[in-house]
Amino acid sequence: LTAVGGAVAAFPLERIMGGGESGPRVAAFATALHIPPAAKPVHQSATTDFYFVGVHEAEAEILPGVKSKVLTYDGKFPGATIHAKRGREVAVTYVNAMAESTVVHLHGAHVAAASDGHPTDLIKSGDQKQYRYPNTQQAASLWYHAHAHHSEAEQVYRGLAGMYLLHDEAERSLGLPEGEFDVPLLLRDVHIDAAGKLVYTAGGFEERRTLLVNGRVQPYFRVSARKYRLRFYNGSNERAYRLRLADTSSFQLIGSDGGLLPAPVTATSFDLWPGERVEAVIDFSRYPVGTQLVLFNDLGDVESTQQVMRFDVTRTATDDSRVPAVLRPLQDLGTPTVHREVELKLDLQRGAFVIDGRIFDPARVDQQIKLGTTEIWTIRNADTQPSIPHNLHLHLVQFQVLDRNGKPVGGHESGPKDTVTIPPGGNVRIKVRFDGHEGRYVYHCHMLDHSATGMMGQMEIKR
Ligand code: C2O
Ligand code: CU
Repeated sequence: LTAVGGAVAAFPLERIMGGGESGPRVAAFATALHIPPAAKPVHQSATTDFYFVGVHEAEAEILPGVKSKVLTYDGKFPGATIHAKRGREVAVTYVNAMAESTVVHLHGAHVAAASDGHPTDLIKSGDQKQYRYPNTQQAASLWYHAHAHHSEAEQVYRGLAGMYLLHDEAERSLGLPEGEFDVPLLLRDVHIDAAGKLVYTAGGFEERRTLLVNGRVQPYFRVSARKYRLRFYNGSNERAYRLRLADTSSFQLIGSDGGLLPAPVTATSFDLWPGERVEAVIDFSRYPVGTQLVLFNDLGDVESTQQVMRFDVTRTATDDSRVPAVLRPLQDLGTPTVHREVELKLDLQRGAFVIDGRIFDPARVDQQIKLGTTEIWTIRNADTQPSIPHNLHLHLVQFQVLDRNGKPVGGHESGPKDTVTIPPGGNVRIKVRFDGHEGRYVYHCHMLDHSATGMMGQMEIKR
């Protein structure tokens, strides 16, 4: 694996331009959907749930009957799902039993800088670190993943990612599908050879032609003929998905990165970029028992990247869940008083992805921000030649997307967001308020192969 703090490998251009072979041909829908187990606290105090997690190499059965070496949280691929309650603290101690350093970042969380998982705040081999999550924000589908600078892309690719569901009473009272009918789905791609070896090359997304859902190749999921809340996560380093059901029937989008939308949005498909989450309620009661319904990715180029998973309707069921017409009003972020511009670009000379012409430098502060300020950021993607999409993620905050190329956004982007895609040559404006915590946080492209070469900046929030 790439040594942390080592030289940045030049980003090979042929990786961006494409080409390459596909992995082994595996039969689609041969494996049942795996639902990552709920993490168990080792201790619970009056205020806090304590977890203890080892970070180490382990084996996972990704291809049926074949063992693959992966990096794991507690031996699980992906990691166990942490369930948190708003207002109750979670403290996770990670013990790094790998030979290389790591960092754990809770993506989408509003936390103190010391617990954010800054890319230089390393847990060295053999060391441990406790992160404390106050869970003061609204219910949302968060996720935790590796984030040591330069090695984040490879470590996440090799397995260091898991889901973190923050629940709250307001959401629970809505009557949405819950329990076994509330299912997180972590989508990602992988380049795996016939021997089960995960092949990682920086920017090698063209060769990552095997799709995994919760760590298994194109699984089937036996569902009851009723409503399900499905939480789609894009845990791929670079791949975007445009998801729809085989019969192009509609469903309701109810949530985004930062939790519930103001109101459900009826849609027949949605886009999901790396780092993003989209929650949808699909009602399988309209299908007769026996129906098999493939979830398609319209951005895939071959069968193995077009067919994500399959829903098999196997039984009837009663259903007292509902999707109310009003979910959760957007937070009022106040009146913006500061405007900033950020430009994302591939620097061909240096073979690195940069922000505002600069490679990430943890010793440099790129944005000085006054605590409590509401700002508008205009994010531009200058990569038309070659044409490369980027998607910017800001730590600490949930923002609102005002427009893309001057046009208002809709669908799941009408909810609170922490990651947003900017098309080649395009621009996106976001409104964001920085409050609650001071200190240094990063913002970066969530195409992790890009951020690993330097497409990351640092903001310092001060009183
Ligand atoms: Cu999910 Cu800084 O990232
Ligand atoms: Cu990028």
